[in-house]
Amino acid sequence: MAYYNGNLTFLLLITILFCVTATEDERAECSKINSVEEICTLTMFPNSCYNSLVMNLAPNVPTRPEIIYMKSVRVAMAEVSRTTHDFSENGTLQKLVVGKSKDKEPALSAMGICRELLSLAMDNVNKSSSSNDGSSFEKSYDHIRSWLSAAATDLQTCEDGFEDLSKEVRNIAAVKLKNSTEYTSNTLAIATEIGKCKKATREHLQTANPNARK
Ligand SMILES: *[C@@H]1O[C@H](CO)[C@@H](O)[C@H](O)[C@H]1NC(C)=O
Ligand SMILES: *[C@@H]1O[C@H](CO)[C@@H](O)[C@H](O)[C@H]1NC(C)=O
Ligand SMILES: *[C@@H]1O[C@H](CO)[C@@H](O)[C@H](O)[C@H]1NC(C)=O
Repeated sequence: MAYYNGNLTFLLLITILFCVTATEDERAECSKINSVEEICTLTMFPNSCYNSLVMNLAPNVPTRPEIIYMKSVRVAMAEVSRTTHDFSENGTLQKLVVGKSKDKEPALSAMGICRELLSLAMDNVNKSSSSNDGSSFEKSYDHIRSWLSAAATDLQTCEDGFEDLSKEVRNIAAVKLKNSTEYTSNTLAIATEIGKCKKATREHLQTANPNARK
């Protein structure tokens, strides 16, 4: 019985501690948005994030989060553009995929659907790269997040189109889409982190100084 009560007290303590540290965690997370190396740890594919961004941005030097975001979205756009080229009509990939499929029609159809989806993905990533007019980051990050989510869905749907084809063909398509998918996902994660931290900073400022609302 004593053991049980002890356990319960422990659980209660943990719960309280967790609630107290939640904003602490958020603050710790927000301290990471000024460095490529650290912001990449918050993405789903930290290695591809780091490797694709580090070339032009110093890893440990503080960099404005907006600059990291712009770099990331440009990298994603270049990659989606390259993938779009890979999936082009009568291109090498199409010949490979059709050549390896007993049934040519479903393979051609999956390629055709991908071309449409990749063009949509390209538009969505492009929008999220040019929407940043500087007026309100919080507002544009909301739009950016929906465009990048849409782009991620376009890429996933393209990959899903190969589901009924052979494992080998599915893999070929998946490998071709991998970088685009990862860079888009990473850019979305970066936008989400920055948006969240901007919002937290503004709320914090408002709490500290209610008159500074407008
Ligand atoms: C692809 O090949 C088909 C059949 O040979 C042809 O009709 C079509 O015009 C080609 N498309 C492009 C973009 O080259
Ligand atoms: C991106 O969008 C702009 C206009 O918003 C357009 O001029 C440009 O050609 C687009 N770039 C690509 C690669 O689609
Ligand atoms: C993806 O990126 C890696 C690392 O830059 C590269 O080695 C690989 O060839 C790329 N894949 C495609 C399909 O472009």
